[in-house]
Amino acid sequence: MTYEVRVLGVADADAYRRVRLAALRLHPDAFGSAYEDEAVLDRAQFAERLTAANFTRYGGFAAGDLVGLAGLQIRTGAKECHKARLFSMYVDAAHRGGGLAQQLIAAVIAGAREAGALLVQLSVAAGNTPAQLLYRRMGFTVYGVERRSLRVGGRFHDEELMVLDLD
Ligand SMILES: CC(C)(COP(=O)(O)OP(=O)(O)OC[C@H]1O[C@@H](n2cnc3c(N)ncnc32)[C@H](O)[C@@H]1OP(=O)(O)O)[C@@H](O)C(=O)NCCC(=O)NCCS
Repeated sequence: MTYEVRVLGVADADAYRRVRLAALRLHPDAFGSAYEDEAVLDRAQFAERLTAANFTRYGGFAAGDLVGLAGLQIRTGAKECHKARLFSMYVDAAHRGGGLAQQLIAAVIAGAREAGALLVQLSVAAGNTPAQLLYRRMGFTVYGVERRSLRVGGRFHDEELMVLDLD
């Protein structure tokens, strides 16, 4: 299977909402955001995200269907605008293992470089082995651990903080 990766626009809002909500519902331990917080948002609110300044959402498409997501945030302010953040990484279960996550991360890194960022940061739940291996494979290294970063259903999860230098 070959995948197309491109920046999502307002016209993708319905597909973006569907895939994002599936990600949050199926993987509550993997994301800082909660399904119940985003399920109440309508199409227009998801569309707004796709035009937000300093945020870019990339989509991975299989035969025209949106099946993967990755977000890029460029920090603002004179002292932090050298930093970018990778977030919201997701590939539909039926399309895993085919390199789509790597393609999405490559697009995020290219976008960060284009915006002049010098490093990309992310956080990943400490027990999420596929994602931890993915980020290591893409060159990210661990620079810290945020203890008890997320609380899901009464259980705490630590998060690894990772970084990739671009310079
Ligand atoms: C993590 C995730 C995005 C990986 O997507 P993917 O498209 O299957 O990943 P790729 O096929 O591009 O794999 C790239 C590399 O990641 C690592 N990897 C991915 N899935 C893995 C798995 N199940 N076991 C071990 N390593 C894995 C490997 O190093 C792999 O490279 P390789 O195939 O050359 O060994 C996907 O499993 C997912 O969406 N999981 C649920 C949501 C989630 O955890 N998101 C991350 C939040 S931080």
